Amino acid sequence: MTVSYKDLGLVNSRELFKKAVKGGYAIPAYNFNNMEQLQAIIQACVETESPVILQVSKGAREYANQTLLRYMAQGAVEYAKEISGGKGIPIVLHLDHGPDFETCKSCIDLGFSSVMIDGSKLPFDENVEQTKRVVEYAHKFDVTVEGELGVLAGIEDDVEAAKHIYTQPEEVEEFVRRTGVDSLAIAIGTSHGAFKFKPGDDPKIRLDILAEIEKRIPGFPIVLHGSSSVPQDLVKIINENGGKLKDAIGIGEDQLRAASKSAVCKINIDSDGRLAMTAAVRKVFNEKPAEFDPRKYLGPARAALKELYMRKNREVLGSAGHAYDK
Ligand code: G3H
Ligand code: 13P
Ligand code: ZN
Repeated sequence: MTVSYKDLGLVNSRELFKKAVKGGYAIPAYNFNNMEQLQAIIQACVETESPVILQVSKGAREYANQTLLRYMAQGAVEYAKEISGGKGIPIVLHLDHGPDFETCKSCIDLGFSSVMIDGSKLPFDENVEQTKRVVEYAHKFDVTVEGELGVLAGIEDDVEAAKHIYTQPEEVEEFVRRTGVDSLAIAIGTSHGAFKFKPGDDPKIRLDILAEIEKRIPGFPIVLHGSSSVPQDLVKIINENGGKLKDAIGIGEDQLRAASKSAVCKINIDSDGRLAMTAAVRKVFNEKPAEFDPRKYLGPARAALKELYMRKNREVLGSAGHAYDK
């Protein structure tokens, strides 16, 4: 049986992206795998009045089960209403890094409102064909689709790509036209995980390539993956409490802020949330070794995550206050 996301109170990303491009901000796309992450995301976005994209990765589907995650997202719609005095906030349920047509279809049929088909490692024409097939299916149900051109360095689905293959601006127009995608993820030097640069590297993303891409597809919604900033205060807390994170370096928040003001309208953040939760859990374990009630360490982890995401919405993405944009 297929379920429409519209019956679950979810929205697709189309209108949100239009408003974000016009308003010069980006919609947060936060990954979730469990209840505490979901609660923190919803609480943060309700409190800052931000729209939000809830992302489910392949790893999340394996860890938590995609059906359960979908029901949790449905619950999140009701939860957001409950804690916002009935108004709620716009919530997108998105498949992150969809590996093939079948996975995208199963998420669409289950009630996801948006999917990514990640053909970035395929040759151009194969990427076009696969993406187009997903778009044709998704659009029948008014589900929005994100495609990708260019390859991010770093770890993705347990596979490590050694080098960035930057998106080639001269390819974007043809890709968008031939596939009919609703948004495009590009590679401009961001990467997945907590080790994006080596000490001594110039930790810059290629805003010049972004500008070139924007010139070719003006106003078209652009997505940045791998956009964690790896806050050094969190790395310090982790290391001071028994952790061993050496040389963890992320993307400067000033660069992400600049990108959000352009056609970048979706910014993916996962690793920073993992760091915030890990720092909080390690601190409890270190300071209170007799604690064994999961609520006593997952509670602080949830609070730390909420605080981090509120700050991201306000200071980095600029999405705070935009939940009810007309
Ligand atoms: O794209 C990567 C996201 O951070 C999801 O990571 O596949 O380990 O859940 P994951
Ligand atoms: P980070 O690892 O930088 O948080 O990126 C997450 C991401 O791109 C999810 O798709
Ligand atoms: Zn990603």
